[in-house]
Amino acid sequence: MIPWQLLDSTKVPGENEELRLYRRGEEFSIRIGVAELMNSRVHGSEDAMSHLACARIASIPCSRVLIGGLGMGYTLAAALKRLGSESRVVVAELVPAVVAWNRGPLGSLAGHPLDDERVTVREVDVAQILREEQRSYDAILLDVDNGPRGLTRKGNGRLYSQTGLESFCAALRPAGIFVLWSASPDLAFVQRLNKAGFAVDEERVRARSHHGGGYHTIWIAARDVGPRGVPTGGKGQPL
Ligand SMILES: C[S@@+](CC[C@H](N)C(=O)[O-])C[C@H]1O[C@@H](n2cnc3c(N)ncnc32)[C@H](O)[C@@H]1O
Repeated sequence: MIPWQLLDSTKVPGENEELRLYRRGEEFSIRIGVAELMNSRVHGSEDAMSHLACARIASIPCSRVLIGGLGMGYTLAAALKRLGSESRVVVAELVPAVVAWNRGPLGSLAGHPLDDERVTVREVDVAQILREEQRSYDAILLDVDNGPRGLTRKGNGRLYSQTGLESFCAALRPAGIFVLWSASPDLAFVQRLNKAGFAVDEERVRARSHHGGGYHTIWIAARDVGPRGVPTGGKGQPL
């Protein structure tokens, strides 16, 4: 068995924890504390998240997509494969070193998606983009923790609060969708999404490509607009 080799570590902004990048042969792992945030051998559900989102917005020619959390770039690469040449993707990545890793040792894993001219990467908390941009996105894809609880940093917990979810709702265009990745289902969280003004579909998808591994959960939350085009729940206050 090849031992894991630590390639780099970096402080998470606003947190005492360190994010660490490891390599073992061709396999890479990003870890926080004792938890693995992303592994290069297991990205079927990260790809599926993009497929499900892009299928819903396929009829929009110049779609705008926000991806929260770059990780190893698999979600981004899968979205770029399905979006048209006029679409634009903004990636919010909290940890600058993650962007550097994607321009360096991780770049080839997902085919260097940051080099695509449709992509703008911003080294900020995704919450900052929600504060700055209202009614701007056709789809927002969020995969910053391993589910709706702060893992990369405790402060992420507010993204999944009622106020946080209303901010995602406010950043979407009227027919926009909010798509979230989670390691497991969470009924209470789905109820919070409903309260924030979303109609939610839940999909169980395989963890690995080619339908292998365990199951992960993807929520596809559509702005639940009433007959006058006004969201039925959620006030949409910024974070
Ligand atoms: C699980 S990984 C994403 C994996 C990605 N879907 C992929 O396909 O490789 C989570 C990423 O979100 C980033 N992140 C965590 N909190 C964030 C926040 N509040 N805003 C933006 N990025 C964040 C982490 O640094 C990490 O790069």
